[in-house]
Amino acid sequence: MSSHNLSREALIGSATLGVIFIVGYYVGKRKSKFFRMSSGKSHVGKKDDPVMQYLLNHSLREHPALKKLRQKTLEHKLSLIMVSCEQAQFMANLARLIKVQKAIEIGVYTGYNAMSIALTLPEDGKLIACDINEEYINIGRPFWALGGVEHKIDVRLKPALQTLDELLAAGQAETFDFVFIDADKVNYDNYYEKSLQLVRKGGIIAIDNVLWSGRVVNPEEGDVDTIAIDKLNKKLHRDIRVNLSMLTVGDGLTLAFKI
Ligand SMILES: C[S@@+](CC[C@H](N)C(=O)[O-])C[C@H]1O[C@@H](n2cnc3c(N)ncnc32)[C@H](O)[C@@H]1O
Ligand SMILES: *[C@@H]1O[C@H](CO)[C@@H](O)[C@H](O)[C@H]1NC(C)=O
Ligand SMILES: *[C@@H]1O[C@H](CO)[C@@H](O)[C@H](O)[C@H]1NC(C)=O
Repeated sequence: MSSHNLSREALIGSATLGVIFIVGYYVGKRKSKFFRMSSGKSHVGKKDDPVMQYLLNHSLREHPALKKLRQKTLEHKLSLIMVSCEQAQFMANLARLIKVQKAIEIGVYTGYNAMSIALTLPEDGKLIACDINEEYINIGRPFWALGGVEHKIDVRLKPALQTLDELLAAGQAETFDFVFIDADKVNYDNYYEKSLQLVRKGGIIAIDNVLWSGRVVNPEEGDVDTIAIDKLNKKLHRDIRVNLSMLTVGDGLTLAFKI
């Protein structure tokens, strides 16, 4: 994507964030932390960007049950936090390329990406799905069943850090092929460090929202989410434990390949 498109994406992102902020105001302060996690992502249906529409028209290959899950999720008040479909498809292709059998997703929501990964797994493959909100999981589950992958998605309803610690305590270090980090931003570095222990050499840690609608360029004082993402981005740049790519897909996606 060109820098021209990137700044336009950032603008769309901030406009979206404004809307989310207003909605958040009415829903109440209790959930404000959650709303800060939201950001503008490209979705089918965002008809105001013809180039993105062209890209989707010419590349999206969505399993019918996955498409139904996306449409169902779009009816939900927080649908903007769903992973973008072209990003999910890219990660599924990546997962197939490295023959993923065991994966972890940190921050599942209705499970669009979880299901997309599960569709690439072998029959005995497993995705550990970490989230704290059962209501979101329950929206997705019938669609996972429709796609025939419900048995491959192992939901752990508790703070993700706890699940990662349990996996480590159970002796599962270096046994996972792929981790997708997409939950609360202040814990991103903790998620990364634990994921690095859980992933095998040659495995991939994918980190979402690393551009945070462009806010990482100039983090505002007190914006703990942006500061946490920027800090991790800077750390990853000099982290010799991994090979690295940062992509402009969605809201920015970092791929860390464990050496
Ligand atoms: C951006 S959404 C995930 C989107 C999802 N990956 C997809 O495919 O659409 C973030 C999710 O993280 C979850 N979450 C927030 N804090 C969490 C925590 N401490 N542990 C586990 N999940 C958490 C939220 O409930 C929410 O469902
Ligand atoms: C994308 O496909 C839709 C539906 O077929 C069509 O209306 C639209 O013109 C297409 N846009 C581009 C840029 O290809
Ligand atoms: C990946 O890491 C290895 C080991 O440090 C290094 O030799 C190689 O040059 C790196 N590859 C890229 C593309 O950065």
